Amino acid sequence: MYTFSAMTLKYDRTNPFLAKLVLRERLNKTGSTKETWHVVIDLEGSGLTYRPGDSFGILPHNDPKLVDAILASCQWDGDLSVFDERSHSHFSLREWLLKKANLASCTRKFLLEIIMRLPEGEKKEELRKLTEAGNEDDLKKFIHSWNVPEVIALYPEAALHPNDLVTSLQPLLPRLYSIASAQSCEGNHVHFTVSRVRYDVAGRKRLGICSHFLCDMIEVGAPKVPVYLQSTRDFILPEDTSVPVIMIGPGTGVAPFRAFMQERVHRKVQPQKSWLFFGERHREHDFFYEEYWQQLVSLGLLRLDLAFSRDQEEKVYVQHKLWENREEVWRWIQDGAKIYVCGDAERMAKDVDNCLQQIVSEQAKISLDAAKAFLTGLRREKQYLRDVY
Ligand SMILES: Cc1cc2nc3c(=O)[nH]c(=O)nc-3n(C[C@H](O)[C@H](O)[C@H](O)COP(=O)(O)OP(=O)(O)OC[C@H]3O[C@@H](n4cnc5c(N)ncnc54)[C@H](O)[C@@H]3O)c2cc1C
Ligand SMILES: NC(=O)c1ccc[n+]([C@@H]2O[C@H](COP(=O)([O-])OP(=O)(O)OC[C@H]3O[C@@H](n4cnc5c(N)ncnc54)[C@H](OP(=O)(O)O)[C@@H]3O)[C@@H](O)[C@H]2O)c1
Repeated sequence: MYTFSAMTLKYDRTNPFLAKLVLRERLNKTGSTKETWHVVIDLEGSGLTYRPGDSFGILPHNDPKLVDAILASCQWDGDLSVFDERSHSHFSLREWLLKKANLASCTRKFLLEIIMRLPEGEKKEELRKLTEAGNEDDLKKFIHSWNVPEVIALYPEAALHPNDLVTSLQPLLPRLYSIASAQSCEGNHVHFTVSRVRYDVAGRKRLGICSHFLCDMIEVGAPKVPVYLQSTRDFILPEDTSVPVIMIGPGTGVAPFRAFMQERVHRKVQPQKSWLFFGERHREHDFFYEEYWQQLVSLGLLRLDLAFSRDQEEKVYVQHKLWENREEVWRWIQDGAKIYVCGDAERMAKDVDNCLQQIVSEQAKISLDAAKAFLTGLRREKQYLRDVY
C-alpha cells in the first residue's frame, strides 16, 4: 500500500515547495494553431515522492504587467504594507497583488466598494443597477468582460484605497496539473504537459493565469514554482503488470499516460497489454511525444490509435477510434483491462462514456441502459477511472 512520507505531507497549498523550472519545450511544431508545452521542474531538496496518476498543485503569480497597471492607475506605492486576512500575514501591496489576488475577475463586493466611493452621477447609478437583484446575468457578463485592472481604470473617480481590494477580491487559487513522468525514470524531475490558455474578450487579450505563469513568465533555471503534491486515490496503475490497460487521453489528457508507460516499462510490462488512444488537431504539428510512443510501439509495448481531428473535413475523435476497434476493446474489457480517461471533462469525457456504452451494448448484446449499469459497475470496482477537468 502507498504510504505518505512525512516530507510529502510537509508541503501543501499554504506552504508550497519552491521548485526550480529546469526545462520548457514547445510540443507543437511550427504552424500549429495551439500552444502546448512540456514543462519540467526539479524537486531536489523537497524529499517529495510521487506516483504516476498524481498531480501537482501550482500556485501561480499574476502577470506583473497587471500589477503595474493597477499601481500606476491608482498611483499607489507598491511597498505599502497590507494585511491579508486569509493568511493572517502582512505583505507589500505589490507582493499581495502578485501572489494573493485573483486579478482575472472582480467580485460583486469589489463593485460595491467602487459604488460607495464614486461621486453621485450616471456612472455610479449604472454600476448600482448592475449589482441589484434581477440583474445577475448582466453582472456576470460585466465580470467576464473586464478584469480587475480594467475595472479600476474604468472608474478613476472612485479613488480606491488598497484595502478595498484586499478585503473584496477573490483569492488567487492553485491549479492542478497531471504528472507526465514516473519518478522511477526521472528521479527528482517532474514533467507536465501544459496547454497555454489564450482567448479574447471583445478584442481584449486574455491569458490563463497559471498556464501563462508556467509557459512564459517563469525563467528556466529559476527556483520559483510554488508546488505541492496532490495525490490520487484511484487513478493508479494496477500493481500486476499483466493487467491490460486502455488509456484514453486526447490533448493534455495524454500526460498521465506518459507517466504510466514510463512506470510500466520500468516494471517490465509484458507486450500487448497497454493501449493508448491519443488525439489532437493535426498529426504534423500536434503529435505530442511522438518519438516516445513510436519507440514503445516498435518494441511491441504499446498499441497506439490516433485521432487527428482536423486532418480531414470530418472531425475524427478518440471515441471514433474506440468504435472502429470495438470488438477488441470489448475483448480487452472482458480480459479485465482497466480503462483510464483523462482530459476535457465538458465534452470529451462525456462523449467517450457514451461511446463505451454503445460498444458494451452492441458487443454484449444488451440494452443501452444495461450497458450504462455495466459501466457504472466498472467505475465502482475501479476498473473504469477518470481524471477529467
Ligand atoms: C486534476 C486536474 C488535472 C489537470 N491537468 C492538466 C494538465 O495536465 N495540463 C493542463 O494544461 N491542464 C490541466 N488541468 C487544468 C489546469 O488546472 C488549469 O485549469 C488550466 O491550465 C487553466 O488554468 P489557467 O490558470 O491557465 O487559466 P485561468 O486563468 O484559470 O483561465 C481559465 C478560464 O478562462 C476562461 N476561458 C478559457 N478559454 C476561454 C475562451 N475561449 N473564451 C472565454 N473564456 C475562456 C474560462 O473561464 C476558464 O475557466 C488539470 C486540472 C485538473 C482539475
Ligand atoms: N481556451 C483556450 O485557449 C484553451 C486552450 C487549450 C485548452 N483549453 C481547455 O483545456 C482543456 C484541455 O485542452 P487540451 O489542450 O488538452 O485539448 P482539447 O481542447 O481537449 O483538444 C484535444 C483534442 O480533442 C478534440 N476534441 C474536441 N472535442 C472533443 C470531443 N467531444 N471528444 C473527443 N475529442 C474532442 C480536439 O479536437 P477539435 O479541437 O478539433 O474539436 C483535439 O483534437 C479543455 O477543457 C479545453 O477546453 C482551453
